[in-house]
Amino acid sequence: MTEPLLHVDGLLKAFPGLTALDHVDLDVHSGEIVAIVGHNGSGKSTLMKILAGVYTADAGTVQTAPGTELHFIHQDLALVEQLSAAENLALRRGEGATGLAPYRTREVRERARELVSRFGPPFDVTCPLHRLTPAQRAVVAISRAMDGWTHSRNVLFLDEPTESLHRTEVDVLFEAVRRLAADGAGIVFVSHRLDEVRSLAHRIVGLRDGRKVADRPVTEMGESHLIEIVTGVEKMDAAERAAREHGELALQVRGLRGASVESLDLALRAGEIVGIAGTLGSGREAVPSLLYGATDATASEFTIDGAAYPHRSPAQSLKRGMAFAPADRGRLAVVRDMNARENFTLPHLPRTTPAFAPIPVGGERTEAATAFAEYDVRPARTEQRISLFSGGNQQKIVMAKSMHHRPKVLLLDEPTQGVDVGAKAAIYAAIERGAAGGTAVLVASSDAKELAALCDRVIVMRDGVVGAALSGDDLTERRLVAEAYGLP
Ligand SMILES: Nc1ncnc2c1ncn2[C@@H]1O[C@H](COP(=O)(O)OP(=O)(O)OP(=O)(O)O)[C@@H](O)[C@H]1O
Ligand SMILES: [Mg+2]
Repeated sequence: MTEPLLHVDGLLKAFPGLTALDHVDLDVHSGEIVAIVGHNGSGKSTLMKILAGVYTADAGTVQTAPGTELHFIHQDLALVEQLSAAENLALRRGEGATGLAPYRTREVRERARELVSRFGPPFDVTCPLHRLTPAQRAVVAISRAMDGWTHSRNVLFLDEPTESLHRTEVDVLFEAVRRLAADGAGIVFVSHRLDEVRSLAHRIVGLRDGRKVADRPVTEMGESHLIEIVTGVEKMDAAERAAREHGELALQVRGLRGASVESLDLALRAGEIVGIAGTLGSGREAVPSLLYGATDATASEFTIDGAAYPHRSPAQSLKRGMAFAPADRGRLAVVRDMNARENFTLPHLPRTTPAFAPIPVGGERTEAATAFAEYDVRPARTEQRISLFSGGNQQKIVMAKSMHHRPKVLLLDEPTQGVDVGAKAAIYAAIERGAAGGTAVLVASSDAKELAALCDRVIVMRDGVVGAALSGDDLTERRLVAEAYGLP
């Protein structure tokens, strides 16, 4: 074989009390698509961050072929939230850095529009990123990483790029990635979606607790071996849909309107799990946050437990027994400077603590430790800063927090985004336990398989309104996808 574009040898990285990477080797050749798989916290993002220069390795070497550049799409996207999509893209090309020279706004915008439109429906490239949906932000990050390639022998790294994308967007991205590889680039991507890994990768590299445990062509990697790498356990069945008795109306809304939702009527009963499906821009991605009052919405009727709830806000919603776990946990669901325990107890403080009284840390620690064990949070360190947990483990903590005090209405947006197969099963089980205990659960998800396995019924959004409602034998992954795209 020819010289690799990238040659990584014996990479070692330790964080206090833990070895994140333990002598990891990796070669990436021209034209090759390499998938990196491993459980939450196995070291995948750390590997990318070292190659990107975000972290410094404790030992090991990294060599690139002459002229080869490394481009990255990080798990947390690394975008500037206050700037628009156009400005974020311009930053990458150094176009903002012209000092007092006239800033070529029009050109920058048009170029941005063209770049993002390669990946899906157009959106406003001049609006600040914090107003875009997670999927739109992912599109910006992807456009940025693929912009400005001067030749074809670069290596592109993607750390869970498809987590907030819907099927068509994923297809477009993969098409682009395959094209780059065919032109001679090397591609390294991290994913927990094993079907995705199978369809895209030529070679699979498995990490487990920072160690490389597999490196072989995809054709030589059996399904059970792959699952064993990611979980360490035998294949798990999707959560069984239990036949549940549904109780009183927990939430009722008519004519809900806001963000990408034009109009939605919805009733949730205690003990019910209702899904929201749809492509990006269909309204699917906005429903939980509109219901929670995190995004402005109007409605002709809105009741919780039979009582009218006209002026909605997150604080009020929490008081009325609602809980919300947003998809974009890095920005919306965790307080980055607090430790894991503090994040876990945060929404419940007003209920458990009189003002100015010392917070009873001991009791909290035990509660948090119990919940962390239940959700298999790794490391199970309740006092560690939340931002130092891996992406999937942060998601487990957010889920544990949302479910902890048995909300009446639980609103979940992409609940298993970025979590490994083992944690997925734990989260599904917790959702089912919550429903069995009388919580009304709403799950918005781009994962049709997840919705089909978990929900009693699913509402499919199309162009901001309800396109279809599926339940019983009609509720299959295939039907969900067909309805989302309006296929016959
Ligand atoms: N800056 C840091 N300080 C301390 N520990 C860290 C830091 N960054 C990562 N870690 C730890 O290193 C380990 C590897 O984390 P990493 O983010 O690489 O995992 P990952 O494989 O990307 O997981 P995921 O699939 O959940 O994103 C984890 O145990 C994580 O908690
Ligand atoms: Mg990661």
